[in-house]
Amino acid sequence: MDVIISASMLASDLARLSDELERTANAGVEWLHIDVMDGVFVDNITYGNNVVKALRPISGLFFDTHLMVSDPTRLIPRFAEAGSDMLTIHAESGGDTAANLAEIRRLGMRAGLAVKPNTPTESIYRYLPLCDMVLIMTVEPGYGGQSFRTECAEKVRALKERCDRDGIKMQIEVDGGINAETARIAKAAGANVLVAGTYLFRAQDMKIAADALR
Ligand code: DX5
Ligand code: ZN
Repeated sequence: MDVIISASMLASDLARLSDELERTANAGVEWLHIDVMDGVFVDNITYGNNVVKALRPISGLFFDTHLMVSDPTRLIPRFAEAGSDMLTIHAESGGDTAANLAEIRRLGMRAGLAVKPNTPTESIYRYLPLCDMVLIMTVEPGYGGQSFRTECAEKVRALKERCDRDGIKMQIEVDGGINAETARIAKAAGANVLVAGTYLFRAQDMKIAADALR
């Protein structure tokens, strides 16, 4: 599978979002990673479906939406309506994960399932047939600019092995502390979607930085 770069908007200049999205597309980045935090599931608050809706008409980027919320169920239709292409929920959010994943697909989005660093990957194996992507968090969710946790690469490797064994075609995304060096570790373990915030948006030249990740 080709490597896909997903630029985490959290590290962009939020006062100039439309310029930042244009800069991202011009750098050859395919996906925009949109971190939705509710101040409950994680202690930070970011932006929600209304921001996705506002950005949709001005950008052709693939909207990779990462929901860090305690009650995803009632938000799923709002992100579908807003124009998210991928909606990733957390295994730790609870509720009916299988029903949520099925509903995401039913509404025409791709379905993702995320695990925090301390959640064992085996706990989500039963949901794999309902997922288009698994997001292995490589930092504790909540903030950008943290360091990649190397031990999470083992989770990527185990998941990749499991999917290959069962003949499941799965995108595997890593999120947190990705730079040219840690991208190499994540790709070697089997990840094919790399989220990067700080590394891309703080780079002098985003295109050079994105190419370095690939
Ligand atoms: C953290 C978010 C990440 C974050 C990544 O909770 O899920 O997407 O923005 O930022 P960097 O690349 O700076 O670690
Ligand atoms: Zn994220």
